[in-house]
Amino acid sequence: MSTSTSTSTSTGFGRIGAVILAAGRGTRMYSDTPKVLQRLLDEPMLRYVFEAVTPLCAGRVRAVVGHGAEQVVAAFPGREETWVEQREQLGTGHALAVAWPRVLELDCAYTLVINGDTPLARSATLAGFLEQSLEREADAAFITLTPADPGAFGRVVRREGRVAAIIEARDYDPAAHGPDSGEINAGVYCFRTATIGPLLPLLGNANKSGEIYITDLIGLAVARGLRVYGHQLGDDADLLGINTPLELVRAEERLREQTVESHLRAGVLIRAAQAVRIGPDVRLAPGVEITGPCELYGRTSVAAGARIASHCLIKDAAIGEGVRMHSFCHVEQARVEALAVVGPYARLRPGAELEEGAHVGNFVEMKKARLGRGAKANHLTYLGDAEIGAGANIGAGTITCNYDGKNKHRTEIGAGAFIGSNTALVAPVRVGERALVGAGSVITREVPDDHLGITRAAQHTVRRLK
Ligand code: UD1
Ligand code: CA
Repeated sequence: MSTSTSTSTSTGFGRIGAVILAAGRGTRMYSDTPKVLQRLLDEPMLRYVFEAVTPLCAGRVRAVVGHGAEQVVAAFPGREETWVEQREQLGTGHALAVAWPRVLELDCAYTLVINGDTPLARSATLAGFLEQSLEREADAAFITLTPADPGAFGRVVRREGRVAAIIEARDYDPAAHGPDSGEINAGVYCFRTATIGPLLPLLGNANKSGEIYITDLIGLAVARGLRVYGHQLGDDADLLGINTPLELVRAEERLREQTVESHLRAGVLIRAAQAVRIGPDVRLAPGVEITGPCELYGRTSVAAGARIASHCLIKDAAIGEGVRMHSFCHVEQARVEALAVVGPYARLRPGAELEEGAHVGNFVEMKKARLGRGAKANHLTYLGDAEIGAGANIGAGTITCNYDGKNKHRTEIGAGAFIGSNTALVAPVRVGERALVGAGSVITREVPDDHLGITRAAQHTVRRLK
């Protein structure tokens, strides 16, 4: 996450504080995961909101957490100053009231408030909204939308074009509030700290949900003759809140499309692009080729000339120049250096490293293991807690027996060694440089450099019984 302290001045308005409302349970997700930790392209929802807000309010962002607070805090290490706990989730207005003392500490004339379930909101959109709100000297401003389906969102009530109130969908009564205009509240607000703060204690919960609504601040402000402004952004779907699985996957799909398109425009060749999912921190060099379906997540980087075939899942991995990754590979926290060849059907687990030009073939699993330059493990093999020298050849069916039921042990295989098929290497054990291990061996003791180790029983050949 980028933190910049200089941008707040370059956006043209002064210091603005921010509050992200993120304490809710997200009942309509039907999940144990706190809603703001629901993932889009494998990143938690709240991360995107932090990123949208940070360029505008760096160092002055507070987030209200409550449901699953511990989990939420743990998901964002190094942000200790951010969190405000709302012990009981009594509503969005209550959440802001709980955060207010911490808002006052920020000493900002204006406070941006944003729902934590609005991950696609962009910095530029928020900046435009803040600019307009400040220019109008609004005491309370908020973004409004007119989506095709206004659903359960709060409705904006206007009288002669001027905002009169926000009424939640459940409480909306056409007889009292007039015909539904379909204009909704996006859940992004800009409050003048000095004039809106004093209204917080006036919020009640006399509504169908029995919750304390932040949205009632608007009606209260209007009643007091304060300046209220509804910033209309039409059908900008990026600002729609996420409350249900359907809304989550729709938002994720929009984000996915935007991300893939920006890589395509930067010169990455992505075939079957509609089935490629790329996380926001993934770095792809121009000229990289990816064929969908594929998923690339976390801090993955792929260097120029690398080709990734379909059905690969790559997370937090570094893929070097000119690497060939065939279909159906699963790669996590691994490092694949230039010109290496991987798969099809390879699994590189955390700590797997392939040096330049190494090959790992089908049904090979590696974990905390390094395959030296040009070394090969082409078939049906498990290499765990192992160090394999340059040019070594690991035969089909080789297993490093790294676990004795209690501890993990290392296997060392020297440069140029040749391990025959169906070998069990019982760690800790070393096979020396240029050593040879006979097929079918169970190796429990060192095979020194330039030696042959073989443990299989001699073959007996007798005439078969009739
Ligand atoms: C809210 C707005 C609605 C608007 C919509 C836009 C209210 C009363 N209504 O409705 O007008 O159209 O957002 O998306 O605000 N939260 C807390 N503490 C609480 C309750 C909620 O921190 O006690 C947080 C949630 O984690 C969430 C955000 O506030 O991120 C909004 O709450 P949610 O329950 O999703 O409100 P909506 O019903 O969507
Ligand atoms: Ca919501």
